[in-house]
Amino acid sequence: MKICIIYHSESGNTRHVAQHLSSAFDSKLVEINDVAPYSKLIKFLVQCKMARGEQLTKIEPESVDVSGYDLIVFGSPVWAFKPTPAIHTAIVGLKGCMGKPAVAFSTHGGRPGQTDETFKKWIEARGMVLAAVTNINQKDIESEKMNKELSALVSSAIKV
Ligand SMILES: Cc1cc2nc3c(=O)[nH]c(=O)nc-3n(C[C@H](O)[C@H](O)[C@H](O)COP(=O)(O)O)c2cc1C
Repeated sequence: MKICIIYHSESGNTRHVAQHLSSAFDSKLVEINDVAPYSKLIKFLVQCKMARGEQLTKIEPESVDVSGYDLIVFGSPVWAFKPTPAIHTAIVGLKGCMGKPAVAFSTHGGRPGQTDETFKKWIEARGMVLAAVTNINQKDIESEKMNKELSALVSSAIKV
């Protein structure tokens, strides 16, 4: 079973969880970078507005081809109660994903809001089957219990 983990992370929390998961499953890890030229002064406000409106952004790499993988895992921070424009853009631009199972996780500061259902909507819109979705409080990213639970979710998706 070949797993591809695709994640966006600005301040490192989601990256930390994705890297842990990648070493647990020996999977491919792809970091998505948001390369939109945000003004530093209003960056937070613009990011929240874009996330809220489910807008797309400019990312690097522009597209990820997952045709060689059996399971796709998505990771994102929560922005304004939703996954980020960068992971949304990555899902929209994904190649070779039709019919594949997917797992999604987010990291957040305590209020994930509509993140899980928004992930589900985007993933299913690209013809993937969402096997599991979960959100992780940023204070738990080092927790062994949380990492075990996330690994168990991925393992259960492999067995589907
Ligand atoms: C623009 C912005 C909006 C955010 N909105 C939320 C939110 O709606 N709910 C929440 O619980 N945390 C929110 N956070 C906190 C992040 O989701 C949290 O710190 C996350 O773990 C950051 O992930 P990262 O380190 O991978 O970038 C927000 C952070 C930023 C920068």
